[in-house]
Amino acid sequence: MTDPIRFLMCPPDHYDVDYVINPWMEGNIHKSSRDRAVEQWQKLHHVLKDHALVDLVNPEKGWPDMVFTANAGLVLGKTVVLSRFYHKERQGEEPYFKKWFEDQGYTVYELPKDLPFEGAGDALLDREGRWLWAGYGFRSELDSHPYLAKWLNIEVLSLRLIDERFYHLDTCFCPLAGGYLLYYPPAFDSYSNRLIEMRVAPEKRIAIAEADAVNFACNAVNVDDVVVMNKTSDSLKQRLKECGFQVIETPLTEFLKAGGAAKCLTLRVTEPVRVEIHSLVSVESRTIRMEGHLLDSGLISRALDLIVENGGSFQVLNFNLGEQRQSTSSAEVKVSAPDHEIMEEIMSQLIDLGALPPPQEICDVNTEAVTIPGVAPDDFYVTTIYPTEVRVHCEWVKVQNQRMDGAIAVNFTPDGPIAKCKLLRDLEIGDHVIVGVEGIRTIRKTESREQRNTQEFSFMGSGVSSERRVELVVEQIAWELRQIRDQGGKVVVTAGPVVIHTGGAEHLSRLIREGYVQALLGGNAIAVHDIEQAMMGTSLGVDMKRGVAVRGGHRHHLKVINTIRRYGSIAKAVENGVINGGVMYECVRSNVPFCLAGSIRDDGPLPDTEMDLIKAQEEYARLLQGADMILMLSSMLHSIGVGNMTPAGVKMVCVDINPAVVTKLSDRGSIESVGVVTDVGLFLSLLTKQLDKLTSPYHIAKT
Ligand code: ARG
Repeated sequence: MTDPIRFLMCPPDHYDVDYVINPWMEGNIHKSSRDRAVEQWQKLHHVLKDHALVDLVNPEKGWPDMVFTANAGLVLGKTVVLSRFYHKERQGEEPYFKKWFEDQGYTVYELPKDLPFEGAGDALLDREGRWLWAGYGFRSELDSHPYLAKWLNIEVLSLRLIDERFYHLDTCFCPLAGGYLLYYPPAFDSYSNRLIEMRVAPEKRIAIAEADAVNFACNAVNVDDVVVMNKTSDSLKQRLKECGFQVIETPLTEFLKAGGAAKCLTLRVTEPVRVEIHSLVSVESRTIRMEGHLLDSGLISRALDLIVENGGSFQVLNFNLGEQRQSTSSAEVKVSAPDHEIMEEIMSQLIDLGALPPPQEICDVNTEAVTIPGVAPDDFYVTTIYPTEVRVHCEWVKVQNQRMDGAIAVNFTPDGPIAKCKLLRDLEIGDHVIVGVEGIRTIRKTESREQRNTQEFSFMGSGVSSERRVELVVEQIAWELRQIRDQGGKVVVTAGPVVIHTGGAEHLSRLIREGYVQALLGGNAIAVHDIEQAMMGTSLGVDMKRGVAVRGGHRHHLKVINTIRRYGSIAKAVENGVINGGVMYECVRSNVPFCLAGSIRDDGPLPDTEMDLIKAQEEYARLLQGADMILMLSSMLHSIGVGNMTPAGVKMVCVDINPAVVTKLSDRGSIESVGVVTDVGLFLSLLTKQLDKLTSPYHIAKT
């Protein structure tokens, strides 16, 4: 004969809503009726007694939530893991529950201090006893799960709760007999839903709608084929019936006001152990170090936020706060993730933030050989714009050709190991590509409080830059352009046709003529409209002097393309005196190299336009090498392409009338980018004026 099933309940003598620790309690302080609560509790007690034995623990004055015995602890066999409440409002219940378990002869395990875990409210056994579902995200900490696996010798599957109304696992998840599962999927993140779907066959999953979920339909007590719950919808009852369950409804509205219902009010204290089951947990932990102006620059909070947002958890092992304004801080953080995949995702983002591996980091990165040309191994590390170093033979090796969205290939030469960023398409058979995230670090400049201000100078907050603020950035940029020119540096401009339409051509032409531009990148259109303006005075058929459309103007650009095609190239047209001014003319005259990358919408194209996109990308990358500054002038497409090819450390100035474009381009998380939301023609005219101011009077006299 099998032992009878037992539940633990706690009479509601002192039950009330006294404080707010979950969204259900809000607005309900002292709003529940004692009489009705007692009556509802007794009904539940009565129903349960028909199907199992019910033990009682003494209610204690001052601990109104003690009725929710599900949160006493988690029982398996004769072992219990005692709850450690997250909120101090409930911590006082712990000793009473502990005493009850000890008196009944249970072996009681207690988690380390400050590691919250709220018992069977957040940990539910598969009704077949095959594994334990454990929730985290609001009350219980992910790091408690490995303890559960160890002490209860069972496999633990971690599920992340993301809707604060469903703060305990048992508010939205209820394993039923026969392998069925009653649950509310939107309460979980996508990883958790995938895990649930992997373990529970589709025909066994009873996903409920929000209307039932908010009536705590998942907060049900299941004994064999009986399911006890608060009032629920007919359709859900029908579905449960079809799966062979008998639903017993019993009103629990008074307890809903505290955020609990049938299941919360009970704790099953007889859970048979399956001897063939053993401990297994996929929770992983790693320790990282961070250094820099961790507080002032907000770096530490960014790091901790990203861990949690990605479904992980953390513990700050130590934090050395730099005391002086200029002194840096350092911290050691233990990062936990529910599984390896999530850990890698979190780690790669932390590496981007400059997280350092612990000193005892591995000696060699993990690599896998390329077996198909142009295809990386599955788990390849995706590069970023930041200078990166990788561990090879116990040394940190600097990665060459740094750019984002590539893979890192490590190859051994007689002069030692070489690590290089490579585009997927450039990978060759035999390349050793880094996989995983171990042994990789990015080198970040210590962001200081001052530098952080420059970043914010990019106007994103205000949406549109005020006139004065535009002038201020223009002053700064003009100064830097001068410096770069005087030092023989390199400025690359990427520009869209809007530069021409907004009257910017004359200013950009001047910049080229006066030696401020060392390469020009764009598409077919900027060249076409620039030449159209030079040859016919219109830009896309609009007279640039009078600002009105001219008759037949819409054909102008095609005539222009045709003419250049007749000459064979822009340079030849310039040579032959067909083009006498404008951006392209100045490039040819000043020997400033340009690359025009083609696209699907190009008319013509001009003979100079490179329609082989891979070649165009290569040419862009070549012209960008060694750039000190990149001016991105109203061309989203080409600017994004350029941004992807450029490592951190190169100053990027992005000008566009559309704030969304500016945000997208300058939000690289690197302090060197500046965004300006304004008309690009106006920007260029301000810029040339400012450069005039900076230029010595003698110089002006010459031109
Ligand atoms: N007021 C209680 C709390 O917020 C309700 C607990 C409900 N228990 C449960 N297992 N879901 O802690």
